[in-house]
Amino acid sequence: MDIKKICVLGAGLMGNGVAQVCAQAGYQVSMRDIEQGFVDNGMKMITKNLTRDVSKNKKTQEEMDQILARILPAVDLGEAVKDADIVIEVIIERMDIKKQLFNELENLASAECLFCSNTSGLSITELATTTKRPEKFIGTHFFNPVPVMRLLEVIRGYETSDETLDIIKELGNKIDKEVIIVNEAPAFAVNRILCPMINEAFFAFGEGVASAEDIDKGMVLGCNHPIGPLALADLVGLDTLLMVMEGLHSELGDKYKPAPLLRKLVRSGRLGRKTGKGIYNYS
Ligand code: CAA
Repeated sequence: MDIKKICVLGAGLMGNGVAQVCAQAGYQVSMRDIEQGFVDNGMKMITKNLTRDVSKNKKTQEEMDQILARILPAVDLGEAVKDADIVIEVIIERMDIKKQLFNELENLASAECLFCSNTSGLSITELATTTKRPEKFIGTHFFNPVPVMRLLEVIRGYETSDETLDIIKELGNKIDKEVIIVNEAPAFAVNRILCPMINEAFFAFGEGVASAEDIDKGMVLGCNHPIGPLALADLVGLDTLLMVMEGLHSELGDKYKPAPLLRKLVRSGRLGRKTGKGIYNYS
């Protein structure tokens, strides 16, 4: 398949990163969100990241301008999807809303277009049932911050074809990611292991085992993690983390029970960096 245009649905934290790495690799990209303000914020983030690269001499101003020119910001779904070879969905982590979007896409996208979801843990097989092309449906799980993190976790749904898998593996290489292939399972491979570790840090902090700073310092200096688990929760988003833990809990049992403190902070609106406060304050 000769991929020319990639449509990224969602311009938030992950969506604008996905749009950036695709445009950097030379693809035409449409980045769509439901409100102009969200799309504008996404473009601002990409511009900020590219400007930092230019100031560090990692890119020239000309390269930055070319990358930005390859990204078409959009609110209209039909316009964003028109002529796309691949759609990458990066919207809110809600099964019902994602299903509704893929249902709508079925009639707007070309018959050959591949559908990808960047879900952090929802079932790819279930999402694919809303389309008439489950063999062209696959999980592409990026990591935050997308322009920096090397991994692309590719998830095979029950009906995903070998051909779709091969095309997405090649796309991963073209956008300069290392690919791992995972058969569908709750939270896939990385979040299955990572999120319970972060959840345990919430239990430890909530039970007064140590301060947040010392838990994080312990994991950075004792285990060589780049940042501590509580700081990582703030980066990922506490709501996303809770959603992954709830999925693991409901499918795999009590071992994966979300920590009470995690629930409490999500209920209070402390979702991490994106709301200015989580475990830590970011004002
Ligand atoms: N976008 C683009 N580039 C960024 C960035 C961002 N949001 N944040 C940092 N960077 C770049 C910086 O420009 C810098 O680049 P240079 O090396 O060229 O100077 C580099 O990353 C390092 O940044 P800093 O020096 O400012 O800060 P740092 O050393 O603390 O690194 C980090 C920042 C890369 C985010 C590092 O803290 C890290 O690796 N953290 C762990 C990230 C992680 O585990 N992510 C996975 C989360 S799980 C997930 O995403 C899946 C899910 O479904 C929940």
